[in-house]
Amino acid sequence: MNICAQPGLAEALEAELRHGPIPFKHFMELALYHPEGGYYRQPSPRTGRGGDFKTSPHQSRWFGAMVARQAVEIWRAMGRPAAFSLFEFGPGEGWLAHDILDAIETGAHGPLAEALEYVLIEQSPPATGRIASRLARWMEGAPGRPRARLDIPGPGHSELPGQISGLVIAHEFLDALPVHLLVQTEAGLAERHVELRAGKLSFCEGPLSDGRLDGWFAGLGVALRPGQAAEVCLPALEWIEAVGRRMQKGGVLLFDYGFSSQVLYHPSRMEGTIRGYRQHAMTLDPLEKPGETDLTAHVDYSSILKTAESLGLSLGGFTDQTHFLLGAGIAEAMEQDTEDMARAAAERRSAMGLLDPGGLGGAIKVMLLTKGLGETEFPAFSMKPGDRESLATLRG
Ligand SMILES: C[S@@+](CC[C@H](N)C(=O)[O-])C[C@H]1O[C@@H](n2cnc3c(N)ncnc32)[C@H](O)[C@@H]1O
Repeated sequence: MNICAQPGLAEALEAELRHGPIPFKHFMELALYHPEGGYYRQPSPRTGRGGDFKTSPHQSRWFGAMVARQAVEIWRAMGRPAAFSLFEFGPGEGWLAHDILDAIETGAHGPLAEALEYVLIEQSPPATGRIASRLARWMEGAPGRPRARLDIPGPGHSELPGQISGLVIAHEFLDALPVHLLVQTEAGLAERHVELRAGKLSFCEGPLSDGRLDGWFAGLGVALRPGQAAEVCLPALEWIEAVGRRMQKGGVLLFDYGFSSQVLYHPSRMEGTIRGYRQHAMTLDPLEKPGETDLTAHVDYSSILKTAESLGLSLGGFTDQTHFLLGAGIAEAMEQDTEDMARAAAERRSAMGLLDPGGLGGAIKVMLLTKGLGETEFPAFSMKPGDRESLATLRG
């Protein structure tokens, strides 16, 4: 049998599948995160030019520079504390952290550089090695400079302190968490499981593997059509719950592909949003080449907001990446960058890739959740997203 090229992952999958079908969520967990051969455990970079897909921090340093402006806004709204923590979940190669730290170190933000501790929470050992060398100048802890440190999650170890005061960032983190794949049948809601059929990975339908999924869509005010498939990401909700419970004062800033529940689960998406990416090409078969294929599903922002609000967080803003960057002042900032005209022109061209409403700019939504910041309005969220439908139906 040869279900994938990574021997450790193949062995783990075969051991599980020998006893019968497993929920797709468990398959996705193994395919992405198994220590021996999971996609996000491979030695080479997953994101960027040499990887399988390119994210905004790989596109242009101006992305991190604008996120840094939002971090400054949160720090100010908190009353400019002398200690300000920034936690980034799933930083991958660490480019966003690099560009935020650089912008805060070189910008005129008063004592924020001294106050900032940037904590990168990344589960991939090879990626953490590269982050450590990329961010070495901030990891040394020199006086007057912002400080950075790595936190590597492990069994029995919680990556977050009991209480958080500061900013939590997740950039394309939630869309990489394992999802349950559900399908509406004439007999009710069923779940897609994975089995070995004639030595090949195949889908089959089975009962719901988690009691929380029972009546899930009715709870969102959504009715799937017969035959419609949809993903539910319980780990994303567990994550926002863990963050929300600890948040004392500050914000949570999310960047991800996603929609409101109403838009995400609309019948126009009969096959849901689960996709695979390999060498910059998309595949609709998520069972193809486990360990070599990134798997991702769009985020249900309505459910994230509902969980966050139940824990006392408020919606600080919701827009798309194009409007977030324009609101943060990317156009003016690039215009004022006149030191090296040739470099600035090249950088302006690559920054256009961040703003394209038909590409990353429109597809990536940005949500800010806040606690204890009163009615502060943030310029980066002053413009509405192109996807007005998701904005209008965020709360159903
Ligand atoms: C889609 S990649 C995004 C990387 C980076 N944020 C970017 O946008 O370029 C998702 C990242 O989340 C990390 N990740 C997934 N689950 C994690 C967890 N529970 N704790 C920490 N990191 C995790 C993966 O290893 C991977 O680096």
